[in-house]
Amino acid sequence: MEKPFSYPDAALLCSARDRLAQLPPLVTSGEIEKLRNEIALAQAGKRFILQGGDCAEMLAECSSAPIANKLKILLQMSLVLIHGLRMPVTRVGRFAGQYAKPRSSPTETKEIDGQSCTLPSYFGDLVNQIDFNKDARTPDPFLMVEGYKHAALTLNFIRSLLDGGFADLHHPEYWDLSFFNNATVSTQRRAQYEQMSRTLADGLAFMQNLGEQTVEDSSRVDFYTSHEGLNLFYEQAQTRQVPRRTGFYDLTTHLPWIGERNRQLDGPHIEFFKGIVNPVGVKVGPTMQPDELIQLIDALNPTDTAGKLVLIARMGAGKVAQNLPPLLEKVKSEGRTVLWMVDPMHGNGTTTSSGIKTRNFDDILSELESTVDAHSNAGTTLGGVHFELTGEDVTECLGGGSGITEEDLSKNYVSLCDPRLNYQQSLEIAFLLAGAISKAKES
Ligand code: PEP
Ligand code: CO
Repeated sequence: MEKPFSYPDAALLCSARDRLAQLPPLVTSGEIEKLRNEIALAQAGKRFILQGGDCAEMLAECSSAPIANKLKILLQMSLVLIHGLRMPVTRVGRFAGQYAKPRSSPTETKEIDGQSCTLPSYFGDLVNQIDFNKDARTPDPFLMVEGYKHAALTLNFIRSLLDGGFADLHHPEYWDLSFFNNATVSTQRRAQYEQMSRTLADGLAFMQNLGEQTVEDSSRVDFYTSHEGLNLFYEQAQTRQVPRRTGFYDLTTHLPWIGERNRQLDGPHIEFFKGIVNPVGVKVGPTMQPDELIQLIDALNPTDTAGKLVLIARMGAGKVAQNLPPLLEKVKSEGRTVLWMVDPMHGNGTTTSSGIKTRNFDDILSELESTVDAHSNAGTTLGGVHFELTGEDVTECLGGGSGITEEDLSKNYVSLCDPRLNYQQSLEIAFLLAGAISKAKES
């Protein structure tokens, strides 16, 4: 198992944890229970979950435009999905706490002034700093308190935007659909996009005409938060009992998940997640075996409670057809209640000849389509999707209607971690996913 980072100063760690434990929760048990109900509906095929945001949030990027733009793209994608799937969509941001990153190696070695220097890897702003020097890379427990504060600032802004009618960005006239006309979009796809956006605009206009009350109601949308629960010190410090409810709630976020690198059955993450009542996600990569998956399900959800467990498959486009069906069949035949989602990002990383980490839009789409097919064949429900995306005009993933090429990648490559879909690519993939799911339903 990957060796986790460690804090060198135990006394400092204790005081940071004490401080975090005193601070009010970031989310409430009532919200968590509401999300659990929505996940239960998604399991039953009556709702769809859209989860997305940065690979890693940065404390320095806690400012209005990136947050508002992320909210805007998630909202617009959700409307495309509501329209295409004809069902309600629950929006879950990878935000307000997505500050900790798993690493394949606990240390990193670089040549500094002709000397080889080994320091702890960068584990995200919740743990240490990215600069390559000893001070910056030493895990600092008070970064957890900083992370908490920035999560609170982010959430405060999100809640205010939503309360203040930001959801009015529903209006398609505010949407940037210029990618429809890009030369790389086929005539057939362009016609499909245009038709979908026309009927979506008609639908929204119809809602508006129903009267002020309805518009007000329809502009009040819910958002939930999620992050990888990597730093268990952070999660534990905000885990507590709540009056008139049973069990322990992790109140840093609504939906924490366990990453692909930390889901060992005898590992500390499974142990911690067993003890909380939040719905929890687990990434499921191509090495997962059917029996192991059942053991994992039984560890995390021994009572088979609806809405409790979200399995986020991230196989890689070329591996879905072979690796996903045995897992779907096994969970189905053993009668376990889970929500199947797909993360079409993390199995599709590539590196260009000039060494830039990227992902190809077509691979992302292909993983979505083969996952939809696998569920169709198995008679199981795909109940959600998990993206790494931003509302900004970055150039991190290749392809899509906006036609990003290898040469374009350096124009605005901002992510310090994994490459994200930009605004146009995100909106486009939502159209394509809605199309793929409705086609599967019809056939
Ligand atoms: C992530 O979601 O950023 C991540 C690291 O994913 P995975 O655990 O699936 O590799
Ligand atoms: Co990532």
